[in-house]
Amino acid sequence: MNTIRTPVAIIGAGPAGLLLGQLLAKQGVENIIVERVSGDYVLGRIRAGILEQGLVKLLQEAGVSDRMFAEGEYHRGVEIAIDGKRVHIDLENLTGGDQVMCYGQTEVTRDLMEARAAAGLTSYYESSDTQIHDIESDAPYVTFSHDGEQYRLDCDFVAGCDGFHGVSRKTIPEAKRTEFERVYPFGWLGVLSDTPPCNDELIYAKSERGFALASMRSKTRSRYYIQVPLTDSVENWSDDAFWEELKKRLPADVAETMITGPSIEKSIAPLRSFVCEPMQYGKLYLLGDAAHIVPPTGAKGLNLAASDVETLYKILTKFYKEGRADLLREYSEKALKRVWAGERFSWWMSNMLHDYGDEQITAMSAEMQDRFMASERDYYFGTEEGKTVVAKQYVGLPYPTVE
Ligand code: APR
Ligand code: PHB
Repeated sequence: MNTIRTPVAIIGAGPAGLLLGQLLAKQGVENIIVERVSGDYVLGRIRAGILEQGLVKLLQEAGVSDRMFAEGEYHRGVEIAIDGKRVHIDLENLTGGDQVMCYGQTEVTRDLMEARAAAGLTSYYESSDTQIHDIESDAPYVTFSHDGEQYRLDCDFVAGCDGFHGVSRKTIPEAKRTEFERVYPFGWLGVLSDTPPCNDELIYAKSERGFALASMRSKTRSRYYIQVPLTDSVENWSDDAFWEELKKRLPADVAETMITGPSIEKSIAPLRSFVCEPMQYGKLYLLGDAAHIVPPTGAKGLNLAASDVETLYKILTKFYKEGRADLLREYSEKALKRVWAGERFSWWMSNMLHDYGDEQITAMSAEMQDRFMASERDYYFGTEEGKTVVAKQYVGLPYPTVE
């Protein structure tokens, strides 16, 4: 058994694990990453590509933003099309200057991987049998196999960044964790194509035939989605059938000029809302998909992972540099407040834009509904913009125009 030690053991080399590792290392907090698959396998995953300002700033802080600024593109707005009628949401003016960065998650992951290797930080890819031990003690450790060798990694803390199917969340005793889940009655059939995007900004479209999304990866690579039944399969969809259906769901003027081409990736993803409470237990902290999943309608998956990373990285840095042990127990409550807000927004956007057929839109447990309503109260009664929405509706919205 090879016994090694590091202050922070990170499980998972997806965006959450890599970003946390980079930010901690920048603050002189050593860490080791244990990852189940190869780096190439991680980079082979097709993921979304909308970065909130907070994530852009974190990547800058991590020293991993050059390529993003060179190749990514800021979007000042986004379009919503309802039955072909296009509405522009002017993000920049409505938020006082905020925009979103369009840059593929795969590229974020690639940049973080290269930065970690360049910094000479230790990562054990293609590891197996990862297990977390003694998280309730002051001497937790992780065991894993790598290159035919057994390892014991002693540490102060374990950061569970190992995604929805990882080992971290399940290490919290079942009696000590509560899981909230809403599985949606549809999935997204996604196509990646080396064709120019059909529009400068993203278009989220709701039509009588169902939801569609026109997104992009660059000026020469597009990403499209259409809502499909859970019973559907990729084999049912030739490229021509996909393009034909997509055009029926997007606004006519966009469909008319759209350039189609062969799919370079085609897959169906289910949609779910999922949250595990708490997001910490003993010396184990959960981040990103290990703790929560959102339907992609709100483009929050990567961005909620980033806010978890920012919260834990700041707490651990203050612990190691200023002895702030009091902050260690605050992570879960702080992270969950923003997670539930992102979950509610993603659930709300999904409700607004999908065809639920005869399924009940709000089907979820009473406890999960309580969390969503608490988040609604926080927002509509706790923020100026939320109070503005309440005030405008309370005094009465404008009467219908007759012209
Ligand atoms: N041991 C080690 N690594 C593991 C284990 C394990 N037992 N189980 C899973 N992993 C690895 C996976 O191989 C993956 O590389 O953990 C990593 C988790 O990465 P992600 O699933 O990408 O999760 P996260 O880093 O939280 O990023 C969230 O990724 O899946 C998207 O939509 C999601 O955009 C969101 C983002
Ligand atoms: C994507 O580009 O893959 C994407 C963009 C926005 C979303 C979901 C997916 O809301």
